[in-house]
Amino acid sequence: MSEDSTYKEWLVELIKKRRTRKPIYFDGKVPSERIEHLIDVARNAPNHHRTEPARFYILDCERIRKVGKLFNEVISGDSIDPALVEKGLRKEKEWGNSSGLLVITSYTDENSLLLRKHPTVVQENYATTCCIIQNLLLLFESNNISAKWSTGPVWEHPSFSCTIGIEDPKKEKVVALLFYGISPLKAEIRTLSPLKNFILNHSKS
Ligand SMILES: Cc1cc2nc3c(=O)[nH]c(=O)nc-3n(C[C@H](O)[C@H](O)[C@H](O)COP(=O)(O)O)c2cc1C
Repeated sequence: MSEDSTYKEWLVELIKKRRTRKPIYFDGKVPSERIEHLIDVARNAPNHHRTEPARFYILDCERIRKVGKLFNEVISGDSIDPALVEKGLRKEKEWGNSSGLLVITSYTDENSLLLRKHPTVVQENYATTCCIIQNLLLLFESNNISAKWSTGPVWEHPSFSCTIGIEDPKKEKVVALLFYGISPLKAEIRTLSPLKNFILNHSKS
C-alpha cells in the first residue's frame, strides 16, 4: 500500500472514530502549550473575508471550577425545585472538576464597515469558528486527547465574561466550551442513518 493511500485511510478512520467523551472520564491533564500548538494548526480553516474570527480562552483549574459554579447558578438560580438543584450540583461537579476547558468564541465587530457591507459576516464567522473546532477535535483525537463540545448556556451568567476575560461580550459569541483531558475510553465508530435519506438530488432517469 502506498504512503498516500495509507494516509487517506488514516484520515477516514480518524473522522469516523472521533467521539465525544464526558469530562467525568478524564483523568489526565494536557499542558496548555500543547493545546496552543494544536489551536495554531486548527486555525487553518476556510474563512470568508479572512477575518480570523475565533478567540480562544484556555482556563486554569481555578477558573474551570468557577465556570462550573456559575453554570450551577444558571441552572438552579433561586429555585427550590429539587430536580434543578440536583442538576445544578451535578453539572458543577462535572464541569468544575474537568482537567481542561477551552472556551472558543467568534468575534465580529458590530461597528465594522465589513459588517455594514456584508451582514452575513456574523454567520460566516460562526461557520469558520465551527470548522476550526472540528479541526481541533480531530487533532485532539489523533493526539489521544478526549473532548466534549458543550453549549450549556453558562454565558447567561452576568459574571461569565469577566471570569473568562472576554473584554467586549457584545462582539464575541460563545461557540463552544471544549472540555478536554486524557481518558481511557476507546473511540467507537457510530452508525448513522442511511446516506440515501440525505442525498436528495438523484437523477430520476
Ligand atoms: C454545536 C454543538 C453543541 C453541543 N452541545 C452539547 C451540550 O451542550 N451538551 C452535551 O452533552 N453535548 C453537546 N454536544 C455534543 C453532542 O451531543 C455530540 O456531538 C453528539 O452526541 C454526537 O456524539 P459524537 O460527538 O460522539 O459523534 C454538542 C455538539 C455540538 C456540535
